[in-house]
Order: sequence, then C-alpha cells, then structure tokens
Amino acid sequence: MSKQPAQGSKREQWSGQYGFLLAAIGSAVGLGNIWRFPGVAYTNGGGAFLLPYLFSLVLVGIPVLLFDYAMGHRYRGSAPTVYRRVKRSSEWIGWFQVLVSFVIMSYYAVVIAWAGSYAWFSFKLAWGKDAAGFFFGKYLHIAEAPGISASPVWQVLVPLVAVWGIALFIIGRGVVSGLEKANKVFLPVLVILFGALVVRALFLPGAVQGLTAFFTPNWSALADPNVWMAAFAQIFYSLSIGFGIMLTYASYLKRRSNLGGTGLVAAFANSSFEILAGVGVFAALGFMAHQQGVGVGDLEGIAGVGLSFVTFPTIIAMMPAGALFGVLFFSSLFLAGLTSLVSLIQVVAAALQEKFGLNNVKAAFTAGLPAALLSVTLFATTTGLYSLDIVDKHINEIGIVFIAIVAMVYMSFFARKLPELRMSINVVSSVSIGRWWPVLVGGLIPAVLAYMLSSTLWGLITEAYEGYPWWMLGTLGFGCIAFAFVLTAVFANLPWRNDVDSYKPLDLPGTVPPRPNGKNGTLTAATSKEN
Ligand code: ALA
Repeated sequence: MSKQPAQGSKREQWSGQYGFLLAAIGSAVGLGNIWRFPGVAYTNGGGAFLLPYLFSLVLVGIPVLLFDYAMGHRYRGSAPTVYRRVKRSSEWIGWFQVLVSFVIMSYYAVVIAWAGSYAWFSFKLAWGKDAAGFFFGKYLHIAEAPGISASPVWQVLVPLVAVWGIALFIIGRGVVSGLEKANKVFLPVLVILFGALVVRALFLPGAVQGLTAFFTPNWSALADPNVWMAAFAQIFYSLSIGFGIMLTYASYLKRRSNLGGTGLVAAFANSSFEILAGVGVFAALGFMAHQQGVGVGDLEGIAGVGLSFVTFPTIIAMMPAGALFGVLFFSSLFLAGLTSLVSLIQVVAAALQEKFGLNNVKAAFTAGLPAALLSVTLFATTTGLYSLDIVDKHINEIGIVFIAIVAMVYMSFFARKLPELRMSINVVSSVSIGRWWPVLVGGLIPAVLAYMLSSTLWGLITEAYEGYPWWMLGTLGFGCIAFAFVLTAVFANLPWRNDVDSYKPLDLPGTVPPRPNGKNGTLTAATSKEN
C-alpha cells in the first residue's frame, strides 16, 4: 500500500488568526495561572518574584514561544513530524515532547476534576470550618503514609471520567469544530467569571494589605538564583512552551499568518491573566491575614495544592456571599484547566494521527484512553496526591527542561536552522525579530536551563524530595522520565503510515533566484495555492 501524503490541502487549519489566538491563549491560561502562579509568587517573596517573572517572560518566554511557533508553522506537523522533517534522526525529540505531554495530561485532568467537584461543593460550602480536613480526609481519603494504593476514591474518579469524556469529545471533533469552538466559548466565559471574582476580592477588607505584598518589589531577591529558577520554570509551564503544544497549534495556521504579532499578544495575554490571578488571590490572602490578625507573609499552607483547595475554601467560608465566590473561583479553575488539557491531548493525538494515519476520533481515543486509564489508576486513589506531587515535580523540572535544551541546542548547533527560522517568522510578521533571537534561543537560554537542570537533578538525587521513600521517587519520579525515554525509542522506530518525508518547506526570500516578474521567493505562490 502506498503512503498517503500528510501535508497540503488535507491538513486541518484554524479558520483564521483569531481562532488560533484564542486556542493559544486557552492553552496557556491554565492551572498554571490560577493554581500555581500565586503560590509560587508567595513562596518566592511576593513582590520579589514579579520582576524576575517579567524578565523571564521577555527574555525567555517570548523567544522560546516564537521558536515553537516557527517550528510548527514552517514544518507544518505534529512534534515528531516537524523534527523528522528537519532531519530523520531527530524525530525522537518530537516523540519525547509527546511523551512529556502524555504524562502531564494524565495528572492535569485530575486537578481539573477536583476543581469541578469543588465548584459543586461551593454551593453548600461543603467543607464547613475545616477545609484541610475536608480536602485531605473526606474528599481525597488520603492514605496516612505515602505509597501506591489501588483503592479508588469514587468522588474523584467520577468527575475525572467526566473530564476525560468532555476533553476527548472536543479532540474527536477536530481542530476547527472541536478545539477552536470550545475555546471560543470557554475562554470568554472564563474571563467574565474570573474578572467578577477579582473585582469582588478587591473589595474585601484587608485586600490592600495583600496587594501591597504582591506588588512591593524586593531588589535584593534579584540576587537569589532560586527566585530566578522558579520564574523560568513558571514561564515554561504557563506559556505551554518547550513540550510540543505551541508547535502543534502553530502547525494548523495558514501560511500567511502574523506569527510574531500573534506570539506577543498570546504571551502578554497569558501573563496579564496570571497577574490578574495574582491580584485576586493576594487580595483574598490579605483578607485572610486581616481576619486572623497576622501579616500576609505569615500565612501558612499557601504553596502548591494547599492554596487552591485548602486556603481558598477557608477564605470562602469566612467571607459574606462566599458560596458565589467559590463557584466563580472553581468554575474558572475548571475551564482554564480544560482548555489547556485539550491542548496537551492534541500534541499526542496529532502525532499518532500523522504517524499511523488515524482519523480525528481514533487519534483522540488512542491518545486519551491510555492517559485516562493511567490517571484513574495512579491519581484517583487514596495515594493519588502523593503520586501527583512526585510526577509533577519530575516531569516539569527534568522532562520539560531537558527536552527544551535538546531542541534548542539541536536546532542551533547541529541542524543550524535558527537563521532560517528567524527569517520564516519575519517574512510573515508585523514585528520583525532581530539578530538577538538566535543568540538567546541558541545560546543563553539553553545555558541557563542547563544550569537549572543540573542543580535540580543534584537536589533530587542527593535529598529525597519532600521526604518521600526512595522507591516511590524511583518508580514514579525518575520512572516517568524513564517511561518517556523508552516509549520515545519505541515510537521513533515504528514505520510511518503517512509520507511526511517528501515535504519541502517554502523557500524564503533571498534563498532562491528572483523570478522574471521580479518577485522573490515562493511564499506568495504557495500561499495562493494552498490556502
Ligand atoms: N499552560 C498551561 C497552564 O498554565 C499548561 O496550566
């Protein structure tokens, strides 16, 4: 049987730049913005975090986002297709990104399920006066000691199955009717719900105290490398960069799409939402500190899971009309998470679709069912929270950082494609990126990430993370990285059903001889034919 071409007019495309922009923002704005950012900002000194965060956005986030955009747009495929089109032997880089997304989505869905449950619980303020006891005990039924248990927790499992059902339904409908439509509905709803929440939070007594903690800069913190590392990690996670998402989304853009301008809008929209979340959460923390008669910096249990599922419910129980606030907060978390979850699934589904010639529905299920099964068996049990914490730490701080370094170093030093990628952005964009871009993407950013990775690895090897038993850290933490490597090797060596190798990226101006009509390059000719 001859291979089918996997390019050209058959490939799905966003209906326009607006559809793409909404989907890109929907992917970026996620649990990272509402759940992770305020906690990370709090533990890194509140206002002390904001400057490194903004620096990271401009010096790391936007350059890497443009790198992902350019890769997907120029080579027009899922992550393995794109890297294979650069050079056959680099296909594995794409598969590793796919596996990173696969691991993340398996626990990401669980947190969305918790948010769904809590939106429901908010109506009756079901946690009463003891939000911690309710979350860890009544809701999660958490085992006293870390381990791996097979006992399901039904109140997590049922919403989790629903989350997977909704997400796979969206993916199965394809890029325009599924992803684009879902984002067009969910994102505006999210902005309205969350906007209402922030406005409400600003009028709470003590809000100003919280905002002061969030916005007062701390210059000396700029000298602390840990604050910088936290800021870099937050930017990667939050902008959905380095692990295939933006690359895959950009591959559905029409040829003539304003990559640079769209990238800047997506990045600033994401960070604006993140800072808005910071404002809402810190205003609420100010209220809590005010009620308890302590300083904002002295509150406890603010980091990680605790912030959204323990501290927030506690605040909600203290405030007038708390139920409404709770519904707004947890529905926002649910929607933000869902639009990011579908982007993670799409990374995997698109790769399977192209490699094995599957249709949308088959690809959605082939990607989603194993991940759903993994999330049910590993994270919806009485030890699920421990597993989630370990996998989240290792896949983010080792998996994402490792493959981001490999991708940028490979494209810079081995494939030597950064000047070409830069030109491919400039030729279609309203903003032109300068010669600084290859310097950052090919040198400075990977160097900083390599430093970050080695110090994280050193920490994780020399000291048991959060005091978990080593066997658990080995099986789940380093285990999920090993799992990604093994499956990468398997998938990269399987034969392709589609022909992706005959693809030729468009010639760029200056790289082909001028045609008699004086026009240079083939961008216009190809654009009119294909789009
Ligand atoms: N970018 C997504 C988030 O922030 C993954 O949660």
